[in-house]
Amino acid sequence: MSFLYSKSSIEDLKERVNIVDVVGRVVPLKRSGSNFKGRCPFHNEKTPSFVVSEQKQIFTCFGCGATGNVFEFMKRYYNLEYIEAVEKLADEYGITLEKRRRDDRRDRYYEVNRLAAGFFYKAFTEKANRGYSYMKRRGITPPVLKKFGIGYADAEWTSLVDYMNSQGIDNKILIELGLAAETNGRVYDKFRNRVMFPIINTSGKVIGFGGRAISPEDNPKYLNSPENIVFKKKNNLYGLNISRQSVGKDGFIILVEGYMDVIALYQSGVHNVTASLGTALTENQASLIKRYTDSVVLSYDADSAGRNAALRGMDILKNAGCRVRVLHVDDGKDPDEFIKKNGKDAFMKLIDGALPYGDYKLEAAKAGLDLSSNEGRIDYVKRASNIISTMSPVERDIYISKAAKEAGVSESAVRMELSPEGETIAGGSLKPADRGRDHEEKTSDEPDVIMGRDRDLLTLAMRRERYIDTISTMTEIFAMETSARIFEAIERDYREHGELDEHRVMDSLSDSDRGLLREACESTPYYEDEEKVFRDCMRDWKLSALVAEEEKIITMLSLADESDDDEKLKTLMERLKIIQTDIQKERNLG
Ligand code: CTP
Ligand code: MN
Repeated sequence: MSFLYSKSSIEDLKERVNIVDVVGRVVPLKRSGSNFKGRCPFHNEKTPSFVVSEQKQIFTCFGCGATGNVFEFMKRYYNLEYIEAVEKLADEYGITLEKRRRDDRRDRYYEVNRLAAGFFYKAFTEKANRGYSYMKRRGITPPVLKKFGIGYADAEWTSLVDYMNSQGIDNKILIELGLAAETNGRVYDKFRNRVMFPIINTSGKVIGFGGRAISPEDNPKYLNSPENIVFKKKNNLYGLNISRQSVGKDGFIILVEGYMDVIALYQSGVHNVTASLGTALTENQASLIKRYTDSVVLSYDADSAGRNAALRGMDILKNAGCRVRVLHVDDGKDPDEFIKKNGKDAFMKLIDGALPYGDYKLEAAKAGLDLSSNEGRIDYVKRASNIISTMSPVERDIYISKAAKEAGVSESAVRMELSPEGETIAGGSLKPADRGRDHEEKTSDEPDVIMGRDRDLLTLAMRRERYIDTISTMTEIFAMETSARIFEAIERDYREHGELDEHRVMDSLSDSDRGLLREACESTPYYEDEEKVFRDCMRDWKLSALVAEEEKIITMLSLADESDDDEKLKTLMERLKIIQTDIQKERNLG
C-alpha cells in the first residue's frame, strides 16, 4: 500500500540514507575504485561480484543480476514488501514519514461505480433479458454469475443515466467514469445491450467495467471503462479479488487473457486464476501478483498474439521475482473453451506439464528456423545465447546444455557465443570478424524478424527516448536497412514532437515495419540493467566496425605484398597497428 505515505517524504528518506551504510551493516564491503565490493547476499559466490555505488546509490550483482536502490535492497535482503522496507529504514534512521492525505473524491467515484454495478446486476437477475440468456447459453451457472457480480446493461439509451440522476448523481461524474457520454448536449449510456463484468480491486472496490457485446455485429466485442482516477488498468487484474483467497493454498496463480477464461476456470473448480485487463502484462501487475504468490502459470491463447504476449509476460514476471511456467491449451482457442470441453483434470494435467521459463524461451527461439540446416542451427544458437545470457549461473549451466543438444553443437560453442569477446577464450577473434561481415553486408532483403543488436537498440529507443540522441550519432549502427528505416521514423517522431509517442510512431510505419517493430519490442526482455545492454550494443558496434576495417586492411596488405609497393605497405601496416590497438582496447573494456 504505497499510497500510505507522501511521495516526497519517501524521496527525502532516500536522500538521507546512504546505501553503502545500509548494505555495509550486513554485507562486508571493500572499497574498489569509486565503488564498494562484496560477496553477493542474493546468491552463492566465492569471488565478490556484488558492487555498491555510492555515487549512484544503487547495488548491482554481476553474478546474478540483482540490482536496485536502497529500498530494493531492504526488500530483498529482509524479504519485505516495498512499504515495509520503507518503514523499516525510516524507523532505523529515526525519520518520521508523512502520511498522505486521502483523496475523498475517489470514494465518491467508487460509490458511483458500486451503484452502477448494482443497477446492472438487478437488470440481469430480476427479469428475463438478453444478457442472462447469453451467459446461460455459455454455460455459466447462477452461483458463479453471482460470485462475479455479472450484470446487464439494457439496450435503451438512458436507463443508467436516468437511474443515477434519480439518485442525485450528476452527469459529470458518469462521463468521467465512462459510464455515460455526451453528444450535442445529450447525455446517454455508454454501455448498451452488453453483459457487464464489474472489475473489482483487491480491496473490494468496483473500479470499472468490461462490457461484452451480445450481438456479434456489435463492436467492439468488449467495451471497457476508460482510464480514470479510480481505474488504472496497469495496476489491476481481473478476478484477483476472488482468487487471492485460494492462491495461498494452491501455491501458484494462473494468469489468463480473458474475463471469460477466469469465470470458466472458476466454475470448473480452478479458483486460483486472474486475467490482465485486455492489455499486455505490466510491471505493476506482476508485483501485484507477487504479493500473493511468486509462482505463476501463464495460460494465454495459443495464437501468435497469445504466444508473443506470453514471451513478454514471462520476462516481466521473472523480473518481478516470480517463477513462471507457460502452457497453451491444445484443444480450443482459450482456457475457457478447453476446460468446458475437457474438464478440470485435463486442465490440471496441462498445468503439470507447463514449460518453465528457459524451456519455453528456447522452444520459441526455434520459430522460423530450420534446425536441419547449418544456418538454422547457427541462428538458433545465437538466439539461445541471447536468452541464456539473462539467466543466473545455475540456470545457464542447465540451458547451455539443452541448447547445445538441440542445435547439435558442443556446449563450449554455446558458451563462446555467450561471451563473444570472451577474455578467457583464445581465438575468440573469429566471432567479431563474423560480426564485421554482418556489419558490412547490410541486407536489403526484408527480414521476417529483427534480432540481436538491432532489436535491442530499437526497443531501447522506444522505451527510453534518451537513447535516441546517442543512437542517431552512430552511423551504420543497424545491421539491417529495415531497422535503420524504423529508427528514422522513431527519431523523426521524437524530433518533431519533442517527445516520443509509441502509438504515433507505430501509425507512421508501413504495416510490415509496424509488425516487425512490435514483435521486436515484445520479444525484448525488460532488462534489469538497460544501461549495460545499451553500452554493450555501442561497444559491439564499435568493435564490429573496427574488425571489419582490420579485415579490409589485411586483404589490402596481401595485395600490396604482391605488387611490392613499399610506401603503401608501410602506411597500411601503421594503420593496421592502430586499429588492432583500438580493438584490443575495446575488448578490454568489456
Ligand atoms: N479485450 C478487450 N477489448 C476487446 C477484445 C478483448 O478489452 N475488444 C480483452 C478482454 O479483457 C478480454 C480479453 O481481452 O477478456 C481477451 O480477449 P478474447 O480472448 O477475445 O476474449 P474472451 O474473454 O475469450 O471472450 P469471449 O470468450 O467472450 O470471446
Ligand atoms: Mn474466449
